[in-house]
Amino acid sequence: MIYAPCVKAPQEIVAPHGRLGVLLVGLGAVSTTFIAGVHALRKNLAAPIGTLSQMGTIRLGKRTEGRTPLIRDFVPLASLDDLVFGGWDIFDDDCYEAARTAGVLEPTMLDRVRPELESVRPWPAVFDQEYVKRLNGPNVKSGANKRELADQVTDDIRRFKETNQLDRLVLVWCGSTEIFMEESPVHQTLAAFEEGLERSDPAIPSSMIYAYAAISEGIPYANAAPNLSADIPALVELAGKTGSPLAGKDLKTGQTLIKTIVAPGLKARLLGVSGWFSTNILGNRDGEVLDDPESFKTKEESKKSVLDYILQPDLYPTLYNDLHHVVRINYYPPRGDNKEGWDNIDLFGWLGHPMQLKINFLCRDSVLAAPIVLDLVLFLDLAKRAGMTGIQEWLSFYFKSPVHAQGIYPEHDLFIQLMKLKNTLRYLRGEELITHLGLEYYDYWDTGLSDRSWAVFINGMIVGVLPTSPFVLHAGFSG
Ligand SMILES: NC(=O)c1ccc[n+]([C@@H]2O[C@H](COP(=O)([O-])OP(=O)(O)OC[C@H]3O[C@@H](n4cnc5c(N)ncnc54)[C@H](O)[C@@H]3O)[C@@H](O)[C@H]2O)c1
Repeated sequence: MIYAPCVKAPQEIVAPHGRLGVLLVGLGAVSTTFIAGVHALRKNLAAPIGTLSQMGTIRLGKRTEGRTPLIRDFVPLASLDDLVFGGWDIFDDDCYEAARTAGVLEPTMLDRVRPELESVRPWPAVFDQEYVKRLNGPNVKSGANKRELADQVTDDIRRFKETNQLDRLVLVWCGSTEIFMEESPVHQTLAAFEEGLERSDPAIPSSMIYAYAAISEGIPYANAAPNLSADIPALVELAGKTGSPLAGKDLKTGQTLIKTIVAPGLKARLLGVSGWFSTNILGNRDGEVLDDPESFKTKEESKKSVLDYILQPDLYPTLYNDLHHVVRINYYPPRGDNKEGWDNIDLFGWLGHPMQLKINFLCRDSVLAAPIVLDLVLFLDLAKRAGMTGIQEWLSFYFKSPVHAQGIYPEHDLFIQLMKLKNTLRYLRGEELITHLGLEYYDYWDTGLSDRSWAVFINGMIVGVLPTSPFVLHAGFSG
């Protein structure tokens, strides 16, 4: 077992020289909103709202030190000007056309970055309708077996790297949600997986083929969707060999983001919850894919696990054992990407008194997702340059179903996740981890000023003298 010390020598982090290639599987609503947003930021058309990497700060040292730099000034992240985009889709529309189809950003905004978007045209995809029933398109690769398809993806990646003279790469799966699958024998070891590619094992869906190709090249890989993809022992094993950082699954954006904000608050106050009913209407392509029960099952599993882990009914059976948690997604075309979610929470308090909380969130899913994709790209590239390999649990902050080591439960509480993320950055830079214990601000030292008086130190400075022991004073107050 390895125990991390609180403070360590700064990690050797390779500087982000050169250009960073961003590979996206699926140029749909999330990807195009992300790419258009990065170009808009480069042209100073907007502020980077929603990104921790660009707007977030990090406190260093004691509260009295006043050191709170921007995260991007604290750790060496790639510059937005150095990002180059490429990707695959089953439709061959360029990124401008795809963004217009997705209908998330206003045409006036898209037109201001039109040439940049038009320059990204997707390569033919690895796709099999067996895994996404409600989708089909013409821009698809063919190959004798799944190994050949993986090789074609590798060729695309290498060509993109060479043509654009890229220094490094990151790949994010922003493709549609695949059908629900559980781990099977072919997923257990790298040898079994590679043998499965040769005989086109049906337990290897398209997303795993992309993941295998990227991880084989040592490229960091993130999964924005809930399907298994790289979250199998075989690909974690491969990542260990090639030095790929991994993150996933399923971006934590609308309703689940709110759930992981509200639920820790209810638990913190020991308020019981007997029911949590969540429903959505949504009319984009993602909604259409999720209208298929097999893809919805993958999403449902991802969305439902959150409350169990946050509320811990095993530790608080009186409060959460009888919780009815229902999640519905309804495909409703008139709304397009303008999702609307309703949550009804039945809770109870002192003497079992029942109460209700209603949340109506009119969110733009892809507007919430795009800044997350940017953070993931930049932090995964940082992880790679810092020599961090395999599952990056500190990026759980961004996901509904965080990937995690075997034998531990995933951390879903947004605030614990944020603390973990920031402490990882402090750790990388050799800064003291912040535990929020804070006792040092209240240290009393006997200075021997007299046998009855005590000096009060705050942060090493005497800020006052007490006429008697603080413990006597405390006893007096509490008495
Ligand atoms: N929008 C959000 O906030 C959000 C939040 C969490 C998770 N997600 C997940 O992220 C994914 C993308 O969401 P979206 O809203 O952009 O969906 P979308 O339907 O707009 O885009 C997905 C794109 O992927 C393409 N695609 C599907 N399979 C492919 C394959 N094998 N290879 C290449 N391209 C493929 C589709 O043609 C489509 O253009 C979905 O799985 C969704 O569930 C989205």
